[in-house]
Amino acid sequence: MSAASVRIAPSLLSADFARLADHLAMIEAGGADWLHLDVMDGCFVPNLTFGAKVIETCARVTKLPLDVHLMVVEPEKYFDSFAKAGASVLTIHVEAAPHLHRQVARIKELGCRAGVALNPATPIESVRDIASDLDLLLVMTVNPGFGGQAFIPSSVEKIRRARALLRDTGSRAVLEVDGGIARETIADCWRAGADTFVAGNAVFGAADPAAEVRALRARCAETA
Ligand code: DX5
Ligand code: ZN
Repeated sequence: MSAASVRIAPSLLSADFARLADHLAMIEAGGADWLHLDVMDGCFVPNLTFGAKVIETCARVTKLPLDVHLMVVEPEKYFDSFAKAGASVLTIHVEAAPHLHRQVARIKELGCRAGVALNPATPIESVRDIASDLDLLLVMTVNPGFGGQAFIPSSVEKIRRARALLRDTGSRAVLEVDGGIARETIADCWRAGADTFVAGNAVFGAADPAAEVRALRARCAETA
């Protein structure tokens, strides 16, 4: 994989909501590829964030594709309104989606790309039988719920196994990682086979978010 295929997806969770438009302009200037939006319901994860209204606001403010990560129970309740709000990707958790096949099909019917996320303790094998239907596989590199947590080191080996599973099943899914991605951790994930990198704290906690997006991409290019 060439470094040209690296996709950087800053997470809105760590942005300053009072300066939303400014912050989105900064990451666009830095060459961000997607905007990652973390929807949390206080039930699947112990935190609450936002829903369709904020997705729709972002769709008006930025041209970046909206990569929506649903950390919610019964995710299918939100598919229609999030698709209408402008989501490009809808990613649901395997732990919250017992009817994954039907839910993935529904996401695609709505014209969105379908993603499935795995918590750190969830085996990669749980998506083998649906891998070829996926547009995106998200390997969580922290336990979901909060920005700014430390990267779980054993994730690197899991990413390697996820890449092998996608290859073995002929899946063309994007392999995304989320949680604790920063200059110190991104290159290991890239070498292990990830191509799409969510970064919240690293980007929006930096003095210059645009420069940080470039720096993260450069770390991958250095090790290509
Ligand atoms: C965590 C979220 C992440 C979060 C990442 O539950 O899914 O997208 O925003 O934040 P950082 O990059 O700060 O770990
Ligand atoms: Zn996320």
